[in-house]
Amino acid sequence: MNKHQQNRLDQLGEYPFARLRKLLNGLKPNPELELIDAGAGEPRLPLPSFVQDTLLQHLDGFSKYPSTTGNDFLRQSIAEWLKRRFSLQHIDADTQVLSANGTREALFAAAHVLINPDSEIQPWVMMPNPMYQIYLGAAITAGGKPYLQPCTPETGFAPDIASITADVWRDTAFVYVCSPSNPTGWVADEAYYTQLLNLAEKYDFYVLADECYSEIYYADKPVGLLEVAQHMGNARYKRCLVMNSLSKRSALPGLRSGLIAGDADLIKKFSKLRSYTGPATPLPLQHVAAAAWDDEKHVQQHLKIYRDSLDAFFEVYGGQAPAGSFFVWLPVKDEEAFVQKAYAEQAIKLLPGSYLAAEDNRGLNAGTGYVRLALVDGPEKAATLAQRLKFII
Ligand SMILES: Cc1ncc(COP(=O)(O)O)c(C=O)c1O
Repeated sequence: MNKHQQNRLDQLGEYPFARLRKLLNGLKPNPELELIDAGAGEPRLPLPSFVQDTLLQHLDGFSKYPSTTGNDFLRQSIAEWLKRRFSLQHIDADTQVLSANGTREALFAAAHVLINPDSEIQPWVMMPNPMYQIYLGAAITAGGKPYLQPCTPETGFAPDIASITADVWRDTAFVYVCSPSNPTGWVADEAYYTQLLNLAEKYDFYVLADECYSEIYYADKPVGLLEVAQHMGNARYKRCLVMNSLSKRSALPGLRSGLIAGDADLIKKFSKLRSYTGPATPLPLQHVAAAAWDDEKHVQQHLKIYRDSLDAFFEVYGGQAPAGSFFVWLPVKDEEAFVQKAYAEQAIKLLPGSYLAAEDNRGLNAGTGYVRLALVDGPEKAATLAQRLKFII
């Protein structure tokens, strides 16, 4: 590596699943049991029925270049979904909505829209700890300083905003919020988003809400950032960016399709970035995506399976279902040892919580002492998983 090639990418650690592979290397899952993979948060539900027909009808779209913003028909479907789901009076498909190739790339790219790497101070990028690791990688590579907000039992697993001082807020470029949260299952309520948007206005920063799990909840439908902005009289969604994904809502992670919506000024800049980086979704896949945003039936069917899975798990294991997402954030003594035992003795793949967090300035990793389980294989396997976990001490 020469001196010109060394860059901020070199500051990033290994991705959690690569670390998990190393942790389990050399171990064999108990051969007497069927392996249950609760490590990856990948929905494993049947393909919604409209996917095949829609794809076949639009195959000729592969012979055309798609738009990097998403073609009109897709942005229109997204805008209509946002209006229905979050009771928005208005959202403009041309100026306030973009399509994304899944939200992972968009969450990463957002930091390059929202940070000025040439500014005099290196700005803070707030994020929950534990977090979806993309936030960390994005903040660092775009030239920001990650500010880790501990999400622990003491904070009710909410990213703590009350203890942050005015000096820090003043030097903040933007805040990542993940609601419902991967991995803790915490859900932002109206008061939380209101407090954050008031701070954003006072200290001049942006709020980026990753709402990928908004359609997976146990009891109450999660509120959305745009909806709260509207309630506050901010009908143009100033300072707000929201991301959502068909990977979770429609169990279509392989489609690589999601949405970006909010403040027209930010969307304009994001659109410019996309015209240079070029992550366009192939047209036939955009048609499938539009059909998915237009349909709620399959989403309700999926929701029932996730709820039944949570019920099945907690009935056997004891405890309470998370407010949102299909994850269980389980306290254990030593998370790496627990994950190794779960694999070797009970043929279960889990993820150590510490791999989903980073060490903060007090030297604390907020994921230490936890494992993450994804209940993505239906109620029967969720119950089996709970039974097997009880044998691990
Ligand atoms: C919190 C969170 N955000 C975003 C994503 C990205 O999903 P996709 O790129 O499939 O839309 C994931 C995927 O696991 C996630 O857990």
